[in-house]
Amino acid sequence: MTLELIEHAAAWRKALDAARARGQRVGLVPTMGALHAGHMSLIRKASAECDLVAVTDYVNPLQFGPSEDLASYPADLARDCELAAEAGAQVLFAPTTAELWPHAPTTSVRVEGLTEALEGSSRPGHFDGVATIVTKLFSLAGPCWAYFGEKDYQQLAVVRRMAADLSLPVEVIGCPIVRDPDGLALSSRNAYLTSDERQVAPHLYYALLAGKRAIEDDVVHDPEAVAEAMAASLAKQALFTLDYAEVTDPDDLTRPGRIEAEVRLLMAARIGRTRLIDNLSATPPTSTDS
Ligand code: PAF
Repeated sequence: MTLELIEHAAAWRKALDAARARGQRVGLVPTMGALHAGHMSLIRKASAECDLVAVTDYVNPLQFGPSEDLASYPADLARDCELAAEAGAQVLFAPTTAELWPHAPTTSVRVEGLTEALEGSSRPGHFDGVATIVTKLFSLAGPCWAYFGEKDYQQLAVVRRMAADLSLPVEVIGCPIVRDPDGLALSSRNAYLTSDERQVAPHLYYALLAGKRAIEDDVVHDPEAVAEAMAASLAKQALFTLDYAEVTDPDDLTRPGRIEAEVRLLMAARIGRTRLIDNLSATPPTSTDS
C-alpha cells in the first residue's frame, strides 16, 4: 500500500478534510515515531474500522522533562513510513517543530486531578505537554476516531477526559497492550535495554501478574496489600528500582478503599537508564463477602 508523507499542517488538514468530504471515516493514530508492533496493532485496528488511516509522527518536546531522553529518542522516519504503510495507513504527518509551533507556544492544556499522581509525580509537566500536543493534533485532524494504546494507561485516561471536557469531535479508542512472547510490553524505549536488562525486564509484567493473582485467586480486597505484593515481587530483581506500584479505579485512577470491582494495576520502575511502565486489569471474584 502506498503512503503519502505530509510535512505541512495545511496539507495535512486538507487531506483529512478531503477524505471526510468523500464520506470517509478518518482514523487517527498519534505516535512519536520509532514504530513497533504495538503501534502497528493500533494502525491495523484503525484500518479495520476506518476508511482512511492517518498516523502522526512527532517527538513532542513539551512532554519531556529537562533530564529526560528527548535528544536521544529513537527516530527513523523512512522505517516508520514503511511500517505504517504495511499496517494499513494511507497518510503520515511528520511535521518539524517549526512547522507546528512557528512561535513558542504560550498556551497549555492541563487536565487536573488525573495528572498529578503516578506518572505525573515522577514526570512533572509531562501530561500538560501530552494534553497540549494531542489537542493540537486533534484540532489539525478534525472529526475522527483516534486510537491510543492502553500501555500508557494514564495518558489514555487523560486524553479521554480532555476530549470530553473540551467537546472535541474525536472518539477516543483504547487498544490492548501488545507484549513480546515473554510478557514485556512493547515500547520504543525497550530499544535502550542492554541484553542483561532485556532478560530481566519482563519481571515488571510478572509483578503485575502477582497483583492480579492476589485479587483474583487469593481474593485480597485490601489495595495496600496488593500493591505490596506487586512491589515485593519486583524487589526480587536487583536490576530494578521501583518507582510506583498502585491499585486504581480504572476510570479516575484513584486508589479504592476496598477492591470490590475491576481495578487497574499500574507500575513504573527503572532498569539501568530505562524507565518502564506497564499495567494490567484485575477483577475480584463476584462474591465479595470474604
Ligand atoms: O503516546 C505517545 O506516543 C505520545 O505521548 C503522543 C500521544 C503521540 C503525544 O505526543
